Amino acid sequence: RPNRCSHRTSQRKMAWRGCSTLRLLLIRACLLCPLAAEAGLYSSADQVVLLTPDTVASVLRNNSAALLVEFYASWCGHCVAFSPVWKALARDTREWKPAVDLVAIDCAFEENSRVCRDFGIAGYPSLKFFPAHSGSDSKGSDIKGFPRDVLGLRHLIIRKIEEHHDSWPPACPPLEAASKAEIDSTVQTNSMEYLALVFETEDSYVGREVTLDLLQFSNITVRRVLKSERELVSELEVTDFPSCYLRRRDSNFTRLHVLNEARTFYSYALQRLPGVVRSGKSKPVTSDLLQNGTQVQWRPFDRSGVYMSDLESALHYSLRVEVAARSVIAGPALDALRSYISVLAKNFPGRPMVKRKLQSLDAWMKSWEEGELPYSSLRAALDQSNQTAALPRGVRWVGCQGSRPHFRGYPCSVWTLFHLLTVQALETGSSGPLEVLWTMRRYMHNFFGCRYCSTHFEQMAEENMDSVSMLSEAVIWLWARHNQVNNRLAGDLSEDPHFPKIQWPPPDQCRECHGVKGGGEHAWNQAQVLAFLRSHYSAQHLNMTYLEKEVEVLEVLEQPQEHGKRSPGRNGRETPDPAPPEQEEEEVQKPALPRLRRSSIVSLRMRERPPDDIVDLDSFISEHYKAKAVHRAPLSGRIRQVDLQPGDLDPGRGARRWMTVLLGSGFSGLDVSLCVLFYLLSTMCLLGMYLCFKLRCRLRRTKVALP
Ligand SMILES: Cc1cc2nc3c(=O)[nH]c(=O)nc-3n(C[C@H](O)[C@H](O)[C@H](O)COP(=O)(O)OP(=O)(O)OC[C@H]3O[C@@H](n4cnc5c(N)ncnc54)[C@H](O)[C@@H]3O)c2cc1C
Ligand SMILES: *[C@@H]1O[C@H](CO)[C@@H](O)[C@H](O)[C@H]1NC(C)=O
Ligand SMILES: *[C@@H]1O[C@H](CO)[C@@H](O)[C@H](O)[C@H]1NC(C)=O
Ligand SMILES: *[C@@H]1O[C@H](CO)[C@@H](O)[C@H](O)[C@H]1NC(C)=O
Ligand SMILES: *[C@@H]1O[C@H](CO)[C@@H](O)[C@H](O)[C@H]1NC(C)=O
Ligand SMILES: *[C@@H]1O[C@H](CO)[C@@H](O)[C@H](O)[C@H]1NC(C)=O
Ligand SMILES: *[C@@H]1O[C@H](CO)[C@@H](O)[C@H](O)[C@H]1NC(C)=O
Repeated sequence: RPNRCSHRTSQRKMAWRGCSTLRLLLIRACLLCPLAAEAGLYSSADQVVLLTPDTVASVLRNNSAALLVEFYASWCGHCVAFSPVWKALARDTREWKPAVDLVAIDCAFEENSRVCRDFGIAGYPSLKFFPAHSGSDSKGSDIKGFPRDVLGLRHLIIRKIEEHHDSWPPACPPLEAASKAEIDSTVQTNSMEYLALVFETEDSYVGREVTLDLLQFSNITVRRVLKSERELVSELEVTDFPSCYLRRRDSNFTRLHVLNEARTFYSYALQRLPGVVRSGKSKPVTSDLLQNGTQVQWRPFDRSGVYMSDLESALHYSLRVEVAARSVIAGPALDALRSYISVLAKNFPGRPMVKRKLQSLDAWMKSWEEGELPYSSLRAALDQSNQTAALPRGVRWVGCQGSRPHFRGYPCSVWTLFHLLTVQALETGSSGPLEVLWTMRRYMHNFFGCRYCSTHFEQMAEENMDSVSMLSEAVIWLWARHNQVNNRLAGDLSEDPHFPKIQWPPPDQCRECHGVKGGGEHAWNQAQVLAFLRSHYSAQHLNMTYLEKEVEVLEVLEQPQEHGKRSPGRNGRETPDPAPPEQEEEEVQKPALPRLRRSSIVSLRMRERPPDDIVDLDSFISEHYKAKAVHRAPLSGRIRQVDLQPGDLDPGRGARRWMTVLLGSGFSGLDVSLCVLFYLLSTMCLLGMYLCFKLRCRLRRTKVALP
């Protein structure tokens, strides 16, 4: 019965085709989903709240912060042109978030279009201002003809905040000028640790900007005083406008000395006064406690120094621990590793012993012709040493020491290493302008254990790394990106309170690097910055203290490595053995992707471990998750609060918390809903396959039953 048979076969075929179509769909959806999530002009890294239909209610309604919302379409040229300004504005007003936040929504994204229609958006980009505690029927106020620069928009935000009358944002300090009577009464009650007065003219915004810049800091009050407040002006003998006068409890007003009489300089100086701390962050421990409290011995260091010990530790950790996360290195990862080692061999200004090792490793890598490199072979080549060439084992952080084991360490040394390499490449002129940057980008992409870090770095690199066309531009590019990261992470829980993230170099390290442009805006003097970087990251400036002596390194490496035991030659070392082999094995077995093995995301406790100073990348990553969760939590409206304590995020408190953590750790709501969708799709596919099999079985059975 050929007819029936073929009919059945075609049925079967159709069923199979259905399955494979589904599978194809799934694969496509998988490939597309990260794109969809990252579409639009802004990403989660931009400190802009990304509005979706689901979050309209929680973000726009009854928010305790005022909101400035940009409605844009990702295809519109003006919006693309405006997006760097919006990002810069978000960075610039980062400290103001509890009082006023920036929001953006991509109206070109089909799901969002209804929201944009509901708000009556006709053209892009459009700005709307939502005062704090806007009601559910509020459509916000349109801002027509808004300025297209950061300065103008910042002033606009201040004017808009001042328009609040009865519903002043609770987190926003008073912005109006203070009168003499007010100041006198504050001084008399003597309740404030610091009182800063910015004397200025009526049209100046400096005082209000500084006030907002410090709104997240406790123990200090900032007020603006107008030039017209004659009595106070003459009492303090104020002659310059603007100028800042500071009063500490129980003393008199004195002029605050800054490099330039401008907002950034005032804010920078005031935020770093002793006793002034970011609220919601633990008070920095005193350096005394710091020294006694950490398990490892504290190595006193100079913040303006660059320590070879950090760099050698970076090499050890990256080559012996981080790269070891892959048991076989192949394809793009192998290329990334090749160029990493080649750049190191060419540019690393190490001790002769280390340089020789890197060069021989480079030669060895180049002679490796197979497409796959087992890590064990690399490790053997790395550890094989003779009398003259070796890479010290273990980590000893110096300039990268953190006040707690989970702060700083490895990521700090990675930055330092690559800054050094860009500067060295410039000095030797031995490579193309992009070689070091590409090497860093590929290393980050393929190996760096903190996946969010590499994703963020990749985004920045994609944006404008290709515009670098000279070796000196590469130095500046990396410096600027690092400052961008510093800005993003300032105030994050992953920030070591002892080493706050600043725009670097600070005025006390490089005066000439800082200047002001028109309107009192801070401006970097890039030529000076370049000169500073060239001297800071020069080979001569490297501080060689705390290094293990070459003879000791060579002696130790000469002996065969005993597993699980300390080699005898290392007992006399200053620090406890930083990397016992068994621990390294443990690290090797971990996958390279974020691991949630640690039961508590928020627990600050380290795993019980022998006191070592290997940076625990795991804890670094979990810190990162937590930091993100806390960072993002205030944005969800309901949980908004300035004083988020670490304990507030207890993952044991139910699914909602987990959701917060999930959402916080880089999964957007979209990601989660896509996950659910995939789950459904895959269930359907399984069901389909099951039916297929069943159908086939039945066919077989019928066949057998046929006469
Ligand atoms: C590529 C990369 C991306 C990262 N992305 C993230 C992320 O997305 N989220 C996250 O939580 N952490 C991220 N990190 C880690 C984070 O940037 C810090 O390295 C970490 O928090 C430790 O900070 P730190 O205080 O030691 O200073 P670091 O920022 O690590 O700086 C190290 C040293 O470099 C010098 N320095 C500082 N700024 C500059 C500059 N602009 N130019 C030149 N030198 C400078 C200073 O001497 C400083 O002490 C990333 C790290 C790297 C290497
Ligand atoms: C708005 O929020 C405040 C607290 O932030 C609350 O007291 C008030 O009831 C809320 N109003 C509405 C209408 O939800
Ligand atoms: C403050 O100034 C007054 C006079 O203006 C002076 O008498 C007093 O000693 C000063 N106090 C301090 C703590 O400097
Ligand atoms: C404010 O300063 C006082 C005195 O220096 C200090 O005791 C207090 O802890 C500070 N407040 C905060 C929140 O750190
Ligand atoms: C820290 O150690 C030093 C000596 O090393 C000691 O004098 C000091 O009292 C210790 N501080 C604390 C808080 O234990
Ligand atoms: C190196 O660092 C140590 C410790 O911070 C310091 O005492 C020493 O002066 C530095 N050496 C140089 C050459 O800067
Ligand atoms: C040691 O190794 C380095 C690099 O591999 C090589 O240049 C040097 O000649 C070797 N020295 C001896 C004594 O074998």
